[in-house]
Amino acid sequence: MSEKPDEKTILMLEKKALEARKRAYTPYSHFSVGAALLCTNGHVYLGCNIENASYTPVNCAERTAFFKAVSEGERDFEAMAIAGGPDSGEDLVLCSPCGVCRQVMREFCRDDFLIFFSDGKGGFISRTLSEMLPFGFGPDQLLGHGEK
Ligand code: THU
Repeated sequence: MSEKPDEKTILMLEKKALEARKRAYTPYSHFSVGAALLCTNGHVYLGCNIENASYTPVNCAERTAFFKAVSEGERDFEAMAIAGGPDSGEDLVLCSPCGVCRQVMREFCRDDFLIFFSDGKGGFISRTLSEMLPFGFGPDQLLGHGEK
């Protein structure tokens, strides 16, 4: 079990998620999302959603942050803050991570990985990964059972 980040760290993550949101590339949905991922060593990686004229290659903010971190050698994660809402204005809506992003989290994070996401009422809700993805399928099911 890892310790819950302190209040100051949580506020810093939420602020950074808002900062990352400003860089979202969203000409199709006009819905911008920012994410800030806290590693156990204290490093923070930011991500925004990046859309595409061909639609399906869209990368959510959460996955952008994870892929940046993993590609820099990070493997140990504590928490993530996510902020999302329409491009126009500062108002956020409830923005809980999509199923694909939850699955990516499942690959790299423990059950108690904490996710803070905008609640659409001016605040953030927090849930653990195991609450967001109960009975998830992960590396523990496959590792050691691959092709011989
Ligand atoms: N999106 C995210 O980046 N993260 C979420 O948690 C929910 C959805 C993006 C994908 C797409 O660019 C836009 O929001 C609308 O679905």
